[in-house]
Amino acid sequence: MIHSLIADRARREFSRAMRFDGGGTPCVPPPADARPRLLYLHIPFCERLCPYCSFNRVTFAEGLCRAYFRALRKELLLYRERGYAFGAIYVGGGTPTVLIDELEETIALARASFAIRELSVETNPNHLTDERLAALGRMGVNRLSVGVQSFDDGLLRRMDRYDKYGSGEAIAEKLRQTMGRFGTLNADMIFNFPTQTPAMLDHDLEVLLEIGIDQVTFYPLMVSDSTRRAVTETLGRLDAGQERRFYRRIAGRLAPAYRFSSAWCFSRKGTMIDEYIVDYDEYAGLGSGSIGYLSGVCYANTFDIPSYIAQVEKGELPLAASRVFSLRDRIRYDFLMKLFGTRLNAADLRNKYGGAFWALLWPDLAAFTLIGALAWRWPHVTLTERGRYMWVVLMREFFTAVNNFRDYCRGRLLP
Ligand SMILES: C[S@@+](CC[C@H](N)C(=O)[O-])C[C@H]1O[C@@H](n2cnc3c(N)ncnc32)[C@H](O)[C@@H]1O
Ligand code: SF4
Repeated sequence: MIHSLIADRARREFSRAMRFDGGGTPCVPPPADARPRLLYLHIPFCERLCPYCSFNRVTFAEGLCRAYFRALRKELLLYRERGYAFGAIYVGGGTPTVLIDELEETIALARASFAIRELSVETNPNHLTDERLAALGRMGVNRLSVGVQSFDDGLLRRMDRYDKYGSGEAIAEKLRQTMGRFGTLNADMIFNFPTQTPAMLDHDLEVLLEIGIDQVTFYPLMVSDSTRRAVTETLGRLDAGQERRFYRRIAGRLAPAYRFSSAWCFSRKGTMIDEYIVDYDEYAGLGSGSIGYLSGVCYANTFDIPSYIAQVEKGELPLAASRVFSLRDRIRYDFLMKLFGTRLNAADLRNKYGGAFWALLWPDLAAFTLIGALAWRWPHVTLTERGRYMWVVLMREFFTAVNNFRDYCRGRLLP
């Protein structure tokens, strides 16, 4: 009951925050200071599209993909010209490793342009080949994230991933062979598939524990407006009660050996793993359809790939829309993201926002404390066990709002 109330409220709030219809010319403000930000690079191409996926992705075509990477490198230089500095890179997709030579050239340019300390790249199991892994090693990848979803062959077939990426056992073997080659090997998993049973989930957990994977991210299955039909037809109807039970099962089984890097990301205890992604307050989003958040401005890049390339070729930042967050939205955004990383430093946020921090945030702080989601030990506020699942619900709604915004832009054929 309480979770569905929180989800409804969050859905309304996030879809309001993602409304970019303010008119005017979209813009990215110049950097307010010299602090390094996070650089997010989006590679939207996939060899074959998964029916449940609501992220920004298109079917791979080599010519277009090469032109895209060239434009991405130009966009990177546009940020450098504007005075931005970056300390870490996250390359997400789609499938960033689809043209490994282009990715290597792009990372080399980023390293020549900025003092990059950390590099995280997403990939798929069929790309865990000697050639690609050697290239990722040369690039200095610290964290490699592999999309697994499940080790259950039946579920993989329903997801249309069995033919593409092999059986659960074949994927597990590839992960075993990749362990130790990068600072952090992460497996992306999805839970709460409508036909997933507790036994299937337990099997996934056993395989991950047996491999001893460095990190595992367990996303709850998310459905956006555009994937609802495909998900219901291929996978069935979602069950919110099951989501909560499965999350408890995951957290309970992983807790002895893993700690929470975020509400849904588990990192093996005793390993020096930096979940630096949640450490950055601001990030630039590069690539078609990317979303960035800089100096209180949230912006979205052009979705249509040829239009994105054309805009960059003209020497312009390829922006489709931007929105200046109000002070209240900025504070609440930090509150959401910091606690997603399971801990917020109230003194830091008070220094950042002055008196407005308490004045605008006290209703949220009081409400979440009263329902037992937050534990206080000044200056730290941490998520309790109850709070962790609430943040899974909140972040599920946040990602869904972002994906609905993309669907909306594509529907309106925004550039
Ligand atoms: C967007 S993909 C990009 C990387 C790579 N292509 C892959 O499939 O892993 C990153 C991860 O997002 C998660 N994901 C994709 N669609 C999802 C959905 N509808 N609900 C929850 N998680 C999803 C999957 O775990 C996936 O591995
Ligand atoms: S889950 Fe990964 S491989 Fe599948 S369509 Fe989405 S981005 Fe592409």
